[in-house]
Formats: sequence, structure tokens, C-alpha cells
Amino acid sequence: MSSLPQLLKQAQKAVSGSVDLKELDAVRIKYLGRKGLLTNELRGLGKLPAEQRASTGKEINEINEELALAIESRQAVLEAAGIEMSLATDRLDVTLPGRGQSRGSLHPITRTLRRMKEIFTLAGFKIQLGPELEDDYHNFTALNISENHPARAMHDTFYLDSGLLLRTHTSPVQIRAMREQGAPIRLIAPGRVYRRDSDLTHTPMFTQVEGLAIGQGISFANLKSLLYEFVSHFFEREVQLRFRPSYFPFTEPSAEVDVLSESGYWLEILGCGMVHPTVLRNVNIDPEEFTGYAFGMGVERLTMLRYGVDDLRLFFENDLRFIQQFA
Ligand code: PHE
Repeated sequence: MSSLPQLLKQAQKAVSGSVDLKELDAVRIKYLGRKGLLTNELRGLGKLPAEQRASTGKEINEINEELALAIESRQAVLEAAGIEMSLATDRLDVTLPGRGQSRGSLHPITRTLRRMKEIFTLAGFKIQLGPELEDDYHNFTALNISENHPARAMHDTFYLDSGLLLRTHTSPVQIRAMREQGAPIRLIAPGRVYRRDSDLTHTPMFTQVEGLAIGQGISFANLKSLLYEFVSHFFEREVQLRFRPSYFPFTEPSAEVDVLSESGYWLEILGCGMVHPTVLRNVNIDPEEFTGYAFGMGVERLTMLRYGVDDLRLFFENDLRFIQQFA
């Protein structure tokens, strides 16, 4: 039975040599498990001569207990080491900077609109909104564009089945406002307009700011000075303007205005003129008593000039890499 102390020694070595709880458990199973080596020894007791059974049985039980104790204390050591280890390595560094939030930014068109509203508000203009879904009367007829007027062809219009249309310009807001408020009146009407146009420099939707000032003795000179004032405030520099005689059914005389860009080319930014007497009559304002001017500005054009953007489509793609440059 010299094998019993040997077995104990072997087992103790395995216990102290186990590096983690899993290994230790394997040692326990190998010696103390149901088919373990010591359990086998107990089973073999029956084959021993009767006089040896008691003392060998006792010896096996002692070894059993000793080994169980050794496993228990090794387990405690390994568990403590495991805790130490995770305390050392799984440390939560509360001083690490957070992941942060990306800052939102305003769309360049929104920025331009805000800027325009601010400047015109300072010049005494009220802000007036109107529907994007318009009827023929407000978008055309009341603006002196009769049924068969060739000017209708200039506006490639989106019509709806209901007979309504998407406004092709912000000028119908003039009509609504003058009907409701009469004269004198001084307003700007910012908003979206729609035309069946799509190429490098035209998009089916774009943004306009309409301006209207009706009062006594308002002249084209007032219109010119207002536009110079606006444009130089807007661009924060002395800006050269070019007034080109033009035609709109709702203004007479009419002009289109170009701005000289910093890189030296002329870009049309607005149409304008003195409100046509017929339009005033259509909204029950006496053209003998009141005169006034109107203009319609292209907001995308102004934004391109101000920020040096050369492709109109960038405003509608909503690529964050583009938009975030305006933060
Ligand atoms: N409504 C015209 C357009 O969209 C612009 C304009 C407005 C011209 C007011 C004259 C007066 O082209």
C-alpha cells in the first residue's frame, strides 16, 4: 500500500500547481470524483485481507480529507487572485473624456434667410408668409398674367389634379397681403417656390424672398437705394449692381439685377420693378393715390455668392461634409 502516500503527494502537487479554478476542479474530479483515483481505492477495500481493511480504510479517508482541505484552500487563493486581477485590469477610468456629441449646424439657406429677415426687418419690412399650394388667380391672374399670356410659359408650372398649383414665385403673397391689409404696406415674403426646371443651375424647388413696399410717392429711386443698402449689408462690402431693363407683367418698369461677384462675373440675383397699376387695382388699391415697388430675390444665388459655392445642387444633397462647413 505504498501507493497511497504517493497518490497523496501526486495529488497535492497537482493542487498547488493548478493556475485557475478550472484546472483545480479537474484535479478534484481526477482524485475525489465518483470515478476518481481515491474513490477507486475505497472501492478496492473489499478485495483486501480482512485485517488490513480497517487501517487502509482509515488511511484513505485521511488522505481524502487532507486533499479536500488542500483543494479548498487552493480555491480560496485562486479566487482571491482572480478578484485582484480584475481589480487591477478591469479598471474604469472615469477621467477618460466622453465620446461627445456632434454639434448641429444651420443649413446655409436657413442662415441666408435669417440674415435677410434681419436686414429687412431693420429696414421696416414685416415678414409675411403665404401658401405654397396656390390657385391660378393668386399665382397668375391677379398679377396681370392673363389666361393666354405668354409669360405663363416662362413659368413651367406643377399643376395638381385639384386644379391648384405649386406657386412658381412668391409674388402671390403680395396679392394676398395687399387684399387683406391694403396700403400703405411694407413686407417681405420668404418661401419655397417650384418650377419644372432641372439642370446645373436650376432645381425644381428653390427659395425666394419677395419684397413689397406700397405707399405715397414711392419711386424707382427708392427701390434702387433699398437694394443697394440691402446688398451691401448682406455681403458686408461695397457691391456693384447692374440693373438690366426687363419685363414682368406685374411691374412697370421692370428690371433684373445682377451682382458683380468677387471673382469678377455678373450673377442675376433678383427681378424687380414698380408695381403695375393693374395689379394695384386688382387688390382694390387706387394707383392714383399709391405707388410702390416689388422685388423677388433668389436665396440660393445670394448664398452661392456669399459663401463662394459654385454648384446649386449642393444645397439640396444634404451632405453633412458640406453643411457642417456652415456651423
Ligand atoms: N416673381 C418674379 C420671378 O419669380 C420676380 C419678381 C418679383 C419680379 C417682384 C418683379 C417684382 O421671377
